[in-house]
Amino acid sequence: MTAPVGARRAGEVVATRPLGAYRQLSIVVPAIAAPARPGQFVTVPPGRADRVLPRTWWITGEHSEVGFGSTLELVVAENPDEEGPLPEPGDVLAVRGPLGRGFGMPTTPVTAVVVTQGAAGAVGRWLTERLRAVGCAAHLVSCAEDPDQHVDLVQARRSADGVVLTEPRAVAAVVADLTDRTAASVLYAVGPVSLSRTVARVASQLVRVSQVTGVEVGAVGICGHGLCGGCDLPLAAGHRRGERSRPCFDGPVLRGDLVDWERLP
Ligand code: FES
Repeated sequence: MTAPVGARRAGEVVATRPLGAYRQLSIVVPAIAAPARPGQFVTVPPGRADRVLPRTWWITGEHSEVGFGSTLELVVAENPDEEGPLPEPGDVLAVRGPLGRGFGMPTTPVTAVVVTQGAAGAVGRWLTERLRAVGCAAHLVSCAEDPDQHVDLVQARRSADGVVLTEPRAVAAVVADLTDRTAASVLYAVGPVSLSRTVARVASQLVRVSQVTGVEVGAVGICGHGLCGGCDLPLAAGHRRGERSRPCFDGPVLRGDLVDWERLP
């Protein structure tokens, strides 16, 4: 395992705005050495005195200015009962990150399908922007139980070659159909582990490459530091010595065929 890259920095919240059922925070930190990538995240201290584990938030964008620092865009759930109140503009947080391995870009232009669920929809929108910037066609599938849980759709429709809305029980069929129709060669998934399992299975059935997130950043009870073991995933045979991956430490982005999804509960 390699240690996650990311130092603790003082970050000032400079803006918050609604993002569907979620919120986007803009936090200015001292300049970061390498540009952040979709699939990376940050940790911040718990928002309640009776909580021990840090909060984990997806990064959904980043820009740096010489002499000013780096602005990280983060997507967060408003969940004050579980996680305490969200910070307000002017608050300063101890931010650790960007952490982890983000999504890899294809080395040649291809067609990609990006599948997202929940707050991670904002990561999916950013990923489609990055894919198109390197010459790929990128289609976004947004999966949600309720319509207001589709995130960042206006921006996503500008960023992607197409946007398809679906719900969890239909997502496998929708992704398979879209992959077939667009002749996509790579599938990406960002969101809950259940979504990653579905997309990895579809990729395997259609003989496509997949990159998926192995830990649900933003979920309650995630340590994000490789300490609790709560995110461990069983590895498929023949890929690596040892049996398990610890995605908050080794990932969060993993190749879909690296994991033995059938051994998950
Ligand atoms: S979330 Fe604790 S080890 Fe990964």
